[in-house]
Amino acid sequence: MKILLLGSGGREHALAWKIAQSEKVERLFIAPGNTGTALVGENVPIGVNDFDQLKEFVLSRHVDMVVVGPEDPLVQGIYDAFKDDPLTADISVIGPSKQGAALEGSKDFAKGFMARHGIPTARYQTITAQTIEEGIAFLETLKPPYVLKADGLCAGKGVLILPTLDKARKELREMLGGMFGKASASVVIEEFLSGVECSVFVLTDGRNYKILPEAKDYKRIGERDTGLNTGGMGSVTPVPFATKDWMRKVEERIIRPTINGLSAEHIDYKGFVFFGLINVKGEPMVIEYNCRMGDPETESVMLRLKSDIVDLFEGVAEGNLDQRLIAFDERVAVCVMLVSGGYPQAYKKGYPILGLDKVKDSIVFHSGTALKNGEIVSDGGRVVAVSSYGKDKNEALRKSFEAVDQIEFIDKYYRRDIGQDL
Ligand code: AMP
Ligand code: GLY
Repeated sequence: MKILLLGSGGREHALAWKIAQSEKVERLFIAPGNTGTALVGENVPIGVNDFDQLKEFVLSRHVDMVVVGPEDPLVQGIYDAFKDDPLTADISVIGPSKQGAALEGSKDFAKGFMARHGIPTARYQTITAQTIEEGIAFLETLKPPYVLKADGLCAGKGVLILPTLDKARKELREMLGGMFGKASASVVIEEFLSGVECSVFVLTDGRNYKILPEAKDYKRIGERDTGLNTGGMGSVTPVPFATKDWMRKVEERIIRPTINGLSAEHIDYKGFVFFGLINVKGEPMVIEYNCRMGDPETESVMLRLKSDIVDLFEGVAEGNLDQRLIAFDERVAVCVMLVSGGYPQAYKKGYPILGLDKVKDSIVFHSGTALKNGEIVSDGGRVVAVSSYGKDKNEALRKSFEAVDQIEFIDKYYRRDIGQDL
């Protein structure tokens, strides 16, 4: 089989690494890919939102399956663009339809969906410029801190958590006034939930589903969860509080009603669902849905997936995922992200990365690197993810940190406390 994977981050390198291990794969293309994906497949210089060029490539190279890494093309409707075109209708796209991707693309849609299907989540109200007074009245019924979310995609920046009612009122007006452009023309106001977060991933064919290993990610730049939010500074799987009992609640109250709800609403969904959950006094609640895998969760979760991922994707495409086997590695997997100093604010790039060849006991996934005159250089905020297995968390972390010491570039920064809170 020939597969085209879309995306260019650490998540896509980890997916490409896993896909390339499948005996079912004859060729693996990645568009546009990165320095890391080029080690396990063939990069193709086409952007993830350039549907016409992607279709042309898929047809000319006889690609059988397209696996979509990031949310943007899904929210823009890449699944539908392939399905609605007779020339590409038979090509499997692993990723939801545009309607399904609205679980991530519209916070209002996601909250409405959860309300319709009785899925536990924070109380909310969706507000536009016309209903701002209702929004302020709703804020007054809540306790601080206050959560405001832009309805649309904002590259992870659309959520504000405000300590006082005054600030919440002010920010609500600014968001509705265009702080995030069209994405904040509607704003979801939510009750604040207090607890520890956990990412749960499911692969579904729209009817059947398989639950992948859960993970915890570390979003803040600073140790002990301080400072600005980032794309993610590391991840650990499994998560100790996600016990059998807790995961049973997650499946019964959240996963099954979500998949059944999609099916009942005739929403085409063949791909990953990422449940951003929070553990509130032992009870799981949904913070958000994403229509893709997480980054940097994928860089640890893929290590624990023993089964052939392409076999699972075939099950998704053919609607017989229930007949496919899924097995997990019992070991712990962790990932530590090396970032450019200054990230998530201004940082410099183009620094040579040395020592990658010295890493023996860990797997390095490239996030933001480039090739310059034959040398691998830093080319983004998040640079590489260093992933390791261990019989326990400490062993996995020790291996990753040993590898982290071997990899050198100017302004290298990472969090030393990944996994320490678990
Ligand atoms: P989201 O983009 O919806 O995942 O929000 C980004 C982050 O904001 C989440 O990962 C949480 O840490 C936090 N957050 C979002 N909604 C809430 C909420 N209702 N209560 C507490 N924290 C929240
Ligand atoms: N790690 C969180 C995300 O991918 O959105």
